[in-house]
Amino acid sequence: MLLEVRDLRVEFRARDGVAHAVNGVTCQVDAGETLAVLGESGSGKSVTAQTVMGILDTPPGRITGGEILFRGQDLLKLKEDERRRIRGAEMAMIFQDALSALNPVLTVGDQLGEMFVVHLGTSRKDARARAVELMDRVRIPAAAQRVRDYPHQFSGGMRQRIMIAMALALEPALVIADEPTTALDVTVQAQVMDLLAELQREYRMGLVLITHDLGVVADVADRIAVMYAGRIVESAPVHDLYKAPAHPYTRGLLDSIPRLDLKGRELYAIKGLPPSLTRIPPGCAFHPRCPMARDVCRTDPPPLYEVDEQRGSACHFWRECLDG
Ligand SMILES: Nc1ncnc2c1ncn2[C@@H]1O[C@H](COP(=O)(O)OP(=O)(O)OP(=O)(O)O)[C@@H](O)[C@H]1O
Ligand code: SF4
Ligand SMILES: [Mg+2]
Repeated sequence: MLLEVRDLRVEFRARDGVAHAVNGVTCQVDAGETLAVLGESGSGKSVTAQTVMGILDTPPGRITGGEILFRGQDLLKLKEDERRRIRGAEMAMIFQDALSALNPVLTVGDQLGEMFVVHLGTSRKDARARAVELMDRVRIPAAAQRVRDYPHQFSGGMRQRIMIAMALALEPALVIADEPTTALDVTVQAQVMDLLAELQREYRMGLVLITHDLGVVADVADRIAVMYAGRIVESAPVHDLYKAPAHPYTRGLLDSIPRLDLKGRELYAIKGLPPSLTRIPPGCAFHPRCPMARDVCRTDPPPLYEVDEQRGSACHFWRECLDG
């Protein structure tokens, strides 16, 4: 297994108490696999990603438990210089906002080349050639000229391609993309997503694709992990999950997607709001919003039940949910 996260916990001290942003996340990513992580705003997707990458600011964040096994080694036990080497060379991150992730005062060629100079000791001249190759690879037109341009001289879509090129420069085994297309126009979104999916296949990397758009992931992901209030509440192969969700929250998300064949019908939306992370409800965190909730749900937190060897659900009544 490439990445195995076990019962990860991260908190923030907030004005009204402690915010449990990551509240026992357990998930796995295999080499060559794309895992989509889906969840409403504030469910802990980015904090989980930052913790895995080792870029969480501590303070204000505090890792209070769990393990992050990367190729069997617990990253939380490594020294900072070892983590820094792994980051970039073996795992890399793609952010939503390329403009703030790239350095505004360096040309994109220098930034891309720097990866090779720092990590591989490549000469400046060779690094420049590698940068042009990479820009070609992510289909930036006239790469040989544009390598001298600064980030602000590119369109949003082209900048996102440059960030993808930076992440893939050293051919890492794992890439985490945190809403990589959210800031782009719809047509450009599709192009960038297609490119990412193509490169994922070509490099056979493990890809974690964070999104709040269930529509985007159906074509590119192998598996989906659904997050709610800092936990993964369902994880399943894409097609199984679409066919029959094993968690009422997943069912609510699926029923919220506009469908052409139901045009004119009122869209089902999950009632209520996600809980405050300083006051996560006892028992199942979803119970105040769950149409299937019963007494036991208000007192007993559901473990991540094994539905089958590929699937997990944190719902006491996953069987009923599966049966529809
Ligand atoms: N720097 C911080 N200081 C204090 N609390 C934070 C900080 N970063 C995150 N949090 C807390 O962690 C929660 C989860 O944040 P996170 O960014 O992981 O959500 P997300 O699922 O990525 O949401 P979105 O879809 O909006 O990106 C936040 O609601 C907030 O309570
Ligand atoms: S455990 Fe209960 S409240 Fe939670 S999702 Fe399942 S049925 Fe709903
Ligand atoms: Mg986020």
